[in-house]
Amino acid sequence: MNAPHEPDELLTIGEMSRRTGVAASALRYYEDIGLIATVRTSGNQRRYARHMLRRVSLISVAKRLAMPLSDVHDAFGEVPMDRTPSHGDWQKASRRWKRQLEDRRRGIERLEHELTGCIGCGCLSLKACALLNPDDALAATGAGARRLEDIAGSDSGREGSARDEL
Ligand code: FES
Repeated sequence: MNAPHEPDELLTIGEMSRRTGVAASALRYYEDIGLIATVRTSGNQRRYARHMLRRVSLISVAKRLAMPLSDVHDAFGEVPMDRTPSHGDWQKASRRWKRQLEDRRRGIERLEHELTGCIGCGCLSLKACALLNPDDALAATGAGARRLEDIAGSDSGREGSARDEL
């Protein structure tokens, strides 16, 4: 982050940790994966702009909701880190976040529905059980080892490498 900040607008990692209840190690990790940003002092110490408090607090909320950090990263995608985000910036992030939560809610409902049937069934079939094999996209094309045929048909150069992986 290159935007200039007044020194009294910046928080140390200890202050950020105390204000948000997030461990310093987690703050460093969030920075490593691009969820938050810091500025560095001439002695290479981290300093946090005050607007990072909201980001870190929202990350904590997301963790309580069991949201993957990759979803948080997507939701925060267009929220700037080099200036204080506007109300509109947060509104956009909020809409994206809401859509993600809605997708997760639908996924949980689908799982709940399938689980109810599977508890009564108990077959745990790799062919038929949606719980064991939930994303069986090839099932629609029929049974059997079809993936290598598809690779050979579309790109013979990749056939050998696909076989090597087996
Ligand atoms: S356990 Fe039989 S379909 Fe899932």
